[in-house]
Amino acid sequence: MKCFKIPVLFVLVNLGRSLAAPLNSETEQFSEDDWNQCRTYLKQFYNMTETKWRKSDTDMTEKIREMQEFFGLQVTGNLNHETLEVMKKGRCGVPDVEQFTLFPGQPRWSRNRITYRILNYTSELKRQEIDKAIALALKVWSDVTPLTFVKQGAGEADIMILFARGNHRDFNPFDGQGGILAHAFAPGSDLGGDTHFDEDERWTLSRDGINLFLVAAHEFGHALGLGHSTDRSALMFPTYSYVNTKGFRLPADDVKGIQALYGPHVDSRPAKPTEPWDRCNHQMSFDAITRLRGELWFFKNGTIWQKHPWRSDVTSIPIKSIFPNIQAVDAAFEYKDRDMAIFFEGSKYWLIRGLGTLKRYPRSIRLIGFPRSVTRVDAAVYIMERKQALFFVGQKYWSYDLRRNQMERGYPRRIMDDFPGIGNKVDSAFQNSGYLYLSNGPIQYEYDYMNKKVIRVLKTSSWLNCD
Ligand SMILES: *[C@@H]1O[C@H](CO)[C@@H](O)[C@H](O)[C@H]1NC(C)=O
Ligand SMILES: *[C@@H]1O[C@H](CO)[C@@H](O)[C@H](O)[C@H]1NC(C)=O
Ligand SMILES: *[C@@H]1O[C@H](CO)[C@@H](O)[C@H](O)[C@H]1NC(C)=O
Ligand SMILES: [Zn+2]
Ligand SMILES: [Zn+2]
Repeated sequence: MKCFKIPVLFVLVNLGRSLAAPLNSETEQFSEDDWNQCRTYLKQFYNMTETKWRKSDTDMTEKIREMQEFFGLQVTGNLNHETLEVMKKGRCGVPDVEQFTLFPGQPRWSRNRITYRILNYTSELKRQEIDKAIALALKVWSDVTPLTFVKQGAGEADIMILFARGNHRDFNPFDGQGGILAHAFAPGSDLGGDTHFDEDERWTLSRDGINLFLVAAHEFGHALGLGHSTDRSALMFPTYSYVNTKGFRLPADDVKGIQALYGPHVDSRPAKPTEPWDRCNHQMSFDAITRLRGELWFFKNGTIWQKHPWRSDVTSIPIKSIFPNIQAVDAAFEYKDRDMAIFFEGSKYWLIRGLGTLKRYPRSIRLIGFPRSVTRVDAAVYIMERKQALFFVGQKYWSYDLRRNQMERGYPRRIMDDFPGIGNKVDSAFQNSGYLYLSNGPIQYEYDYMNKKVIRVLKTSSWLNCD
């Protein structure tokens, strides 16, 4: 059920006025068009009422002062060229003063997983280009907060994105080319969070025309609950100006604002160059290891190392950047027959295809046949020749028949009894060239499953170009 709620177009507190501004320092002449533009602007963005529209109107003087103050212009209360110039700039359609709201307080999303959907596209750019620009613009915010954004292909998402021209049924019509470029609604139900782009602009991904990534990143700031900033260097400054988008970094003012609402990124380690773990440390153990489409994937907490057999380098990436819903992987195996992988985290599991999780996951591992007492799986490996998956849990292991799609009878059994020579615990396992590689902490056993014997003892990290 939905209840209608007046969406808050944004919130911003405009602080005190400067008292000592000269009242009438200019005698510039302006055309009727200029005055009209000025009035429309103040009405739209500074809550000026429509009553008496005369140049000497005190309400108008007051609003001009407010506007000049916001933009850091000389505060005179009179229209001048500097002020008019700012008014003519392309800008965001969200007002610069606090809106009347039924629900006072700062609107924010109450959960960290936020969905979005792109309802339609502008013909100025290719669909994939728009998808990418939108995803990157959202990433600007998820990089510095615990938020994750999940794209949705149908149905009602939190942030509904569309391109429209003129009146598009939200009482905030667009105005043709120039002027208002886009607007967005603060978090809430229905229109809340929705983000609209003016179809009449010339959308680009460069410095010519209007850069979609920059405008989208700004609008998503509103969709997450930020108002306009008076800081010129801020992304949330209301007027549009191009900045280099390559390696774009969110300005400090915006980071402060969004973190006040949602807190910092959960994993506050520097995202790039330093790996959180020294993969070559002698004591290094892994949560899970699996082959996946020809590569070896090593999991440890929130990190994945990928090693391609023909390449000498090892790449490390945060799990979240591929699978936003997965924090860590305890066990994993590839079910190559179906081009799938299965990842376990605690008492849940996911089916993975390509670089995505399938719909309706995670599911409970009880659906695979584990009893309630099993709350996590230490390691999993698929034995291709037998269409059999082994699950290691504590000192025992289970066997799952993938042909019949059920846990085999007679399990769990003790690891010690069936895998002589490897001890009583396995924390990661994978199959490679006919052998099993079973690790217990930093020690790994190359194991011949058919003949039940250990071939070699290795270091678990030896696959990752250490030594
Ligand atoms: C907007 O203007 C109306 C009418 O003058 C006033 O009642 C309201 O408080 C104003 N809102 C803000 C946020 O200034
Ligand atoms: C996108 O959808 C909105 C709402 O249905 C509609 O007003 C608008 O014209 C559409 N835009 C395009 C470019 O089709
Ligand atoms: C790794 O995961 C373990 C268990 O979930 C947790 O206790 C530990 O704090 C994590 N370490 C880091 C550096 O995230
Ligand atoms: Zn804005
Ligand atoms: Zn709109």
